Amino acid sequence: MITVLRLGHRRGRDKRITTHVGLVARAFGADELLISTKDGGIEDTLMDVSARFGGEFRVKSGIKWRKVIQRWEGISVHLTMYGEHVDDVMLKMQKDKDLLIIVGAEKVPPEVYKAVDFNVAMGNQPHSEVAALAVFMDRLLGGGGLRKDFYGNVKIIPSKKGKKVVEVCD
Ligand SMILES: C[S@@+](CC[C@H](N)C(=O)[O-])C[C@H]1O[C@@H](n2cnc3c(N)ncnc32)[C@H](O)[C@@H]1O
Repeated sequence: MITVLRLGHRRGRDKRITTHVGLVARAFGADELLISTKDGGIEDTLMDVSARFGGEFRVKSGIKWRKVIQRWEGISVHLTMYGEHVDDVMLKMQKDKDLLIIVGAEKVPPEVYKAVDFNVAMGNQPHSEVAALAVFMDRLLGGGGLRKDFYGNVKIIPSKKGKKVVEVCD
């Protein structure tokens, strides 16, 4: 199981970027998104995507993130520009355990860096939680997440030109 934990979500200001963290988590193969701050609007938006495009992706907001990290029994990673290179971590990280992937927004508390198994950098330059999550998950799953069939009611057919969308009736 892969869980993404989004820290430091600011309602209103981070609406779009946190929604994109959720869309990437779902599309790249994660099972759930946990958001530190309560935000029913983002839960509804992401659950609506799952209702149409399929899959069992879950979203919970307003969670006690310290408890989640402390009680996590699998492997925990924090995506940060200050971390070890992703390729080096992939060589030593166990992949058969439940995985908690933490991304920040504003300044991430120092306790997070100490609490996790790995602090992981997608390059040691400042960029974005959305990009960092996408690159990390693609490296982790070897691109496998992007070939997942979600068995949704709405199915997009890959096409060279234009858009092919089919409605799948139950
Ligand atoms: C826009 S950054 C702001 C980070 C914040 N200023 C800090 O010091 O923690 C938001 C998030 O993007 C992710 N991020 C940005 N650059 C990264 C990188 N090079 N590697 C991994 N994650 C990165 C981290 O999860 C970070 O918490």
